[in-house]
Amino acid sequence: MDGVGIQYRPSEDIAEAQKISQDLFDYVRGIVVDRHDNPRDDGVSEMVQAHAELFGRLELGKATADVANMLAGGIVTTAHLIGTAMLTLVRNPNVLAAVSADPGRITALIEEALRIDAPVQYVPRWTTKQTEFGGVTIPAGAQVNLLIGAADRDPAAFGEPDEARLDRPNQNDHLAFGQGIHFCVGAPLARLEARVAFEQLLARLADIRLDEQRSDVRNIDSLTFRGPRRLVLTFRGRR
Ligand code: HEM
Repeated sequence: MDGVGIQYRPSEDIAEAQKISQDLFDYVRGIVVDRHDNPRDDGVSEMVQAHAELFGRLELGKATADVANMLAGGIVTTAHLIGTAMLTLVRNPNVLAAVSADPGRITALIEEALRIDAPVQYVPRWTTKQTEFGGVTIPAGAQVNLLIGAADRDPAAFGEPDEARLDRPNQNDHLAFGQGIHFCVGAPLARLEARVAFEQLLARLADIRLDEQRSDVRNIDSLTFRGPRRLVLTFRGRR
C-alpha cells in the first residue's frame, strides 16, 4: 500500500491557536460541570469528585485545567511516541528485524524511543531557596528547566546514547515520564497504547519503509514537545 501517513499540524497562527485552546477549555468546562451535576461511571466524574473533596467545593477553573491537561498531555505525547518509535524502526533495519522476529522486544523499542526522543523535552521547577548546583548559584524563586531530552542522552548514563539498542541493562532508567511526586500518571497507559499499536502494525504490515519524499521528519516547532511533523510510510499487507 502506498502513502499512508499521519500528520500533526500545529497552528502557526497565534490567534487561531489561542482560539483553539479557548474552545477546548470551554468544551472541557462544560463536561466538568455536567459530571459535577450528574456524576456517572467515568474518569472525569472521579476527577471532579476528588477535586471537590480536596478543595471542599468544586473549583471550576482548577478542575477544568486538570481535566484539560490530562486530555492534552495524554494525546499529543503518545502520538509523538508512536511516531518516533516508527521512525526508529524504519531508520534501523537491524532493530526492525529484531522486533519483527520477536514482538516481545517491542517494549524495549518503546523505551528507546522515549529515551532518545523524549516527547516532553523539559519540565519546569522553581527553587524554594538559594541552591548550588554544578558550581552555579541559583537564587530562590528561580525557574529551573530540567532538560529531560539532554539527561536521557547523557553518555555517562547510556553508552552510545544516540543509538537505539534493545539490550540496555538500564533500559527503563530514562526520565521521559519525569520523576518523583509528579511522575506521569499516564505512563502505563502511554506504554500500553504504544505496545498495542506496534503489536498490531507489525502483525499486519511487511516491508515498512519511510517515504522520504513525502515525509517531513523535522521535529515540530515546540520547546516542550518533540515529535516528527509528518511520516508517510509504504508497506505490504501480510497475508
Ligand atoms: C509518551 C507519553 C507521555 C509522556 C512522554 C509524558 C510525560 C510526562 C512528564 C515528563 C510528566 C512530568 C511533569 C513534571 O514533572 O512536571 C508528566 C506528567 C503528567 N502526565 Fe504525562 N506523559 C505521557 C502520557 C500521558 C498520558 C497518556 C496521560 C493521561 C492519560 C498523561 C497525564 C499526565 C498528568 C496528569 C501529569 C501530571 C502528574 C502530576 O503532576 O502529578 N500523560 N507526563
